[in-house]
Amino acid sequence: MLRMRAEEVDDPTTSEIRAIIADMIETLDDSGGVGLAAPQIYEPLRLIVFSVPGERTSLEGDPAGEEGIPLTILANPVIEPLSGELNEDWEGCLSIPHLRGIVPRFTSIRYSGLDQHGDVIERDAIGFHARVLQHECDHLDGMNYIQRMPDVTKLTFETELKHLADLHVGPLVIEGDELSRTG
Ligand code: NI
Repeated sequence: MLRMRAEEVDDPTTSEIRAIIADMIETLDDSGGVGLAAPQIYEPLRLIVFSVPGERTSLEGDPAGEEGIPLTILANPVIEPLSGELNEDWEGCLSIPHLRGIVPRFTSIRYSGLDQHGDVIERDAIGFHARVLQHECDHLDGMNYIQRMPDVTKLTFETELKHLADLHVGPLVIEGDELSRTG
């Protein structure tokens, strides 16, 4: 399922999709992550759920500012990079337990899609917010973050990463809760 291209959602307002969304939100809550894609719960649909804490958006100059991004449901999401600039950061994935890796992503994107009411959502995103969208949308195209890593020596066990963070050993400098899963 995680290797397949997921199918478009015809209508995000049906009871069937509503049940899938409820299941995704419950799984996301249990995971401690910030995002989840439908194929991760074995539903081959272009559907993602995510939120972004205000600490991240305000630090990174994201348009969401101190408010962050509340829980958002997005069907048929589309991403457009706003520049060629990339940044690297750690990612983890609920579907690939216990591992973390350094992944380059576009720093600045615009994304759009339909919410659970069928209304259009369009937002600009910077930094972690943009990273979450890129990670989740990759799941809809059968991609995982490890396939995006140019250097697999920067793939590690999360226990190892936490250990190094505790020792303050560079270059693995980790602040606050940056170890939270991307999705
Ligand atoms: Ni993931």
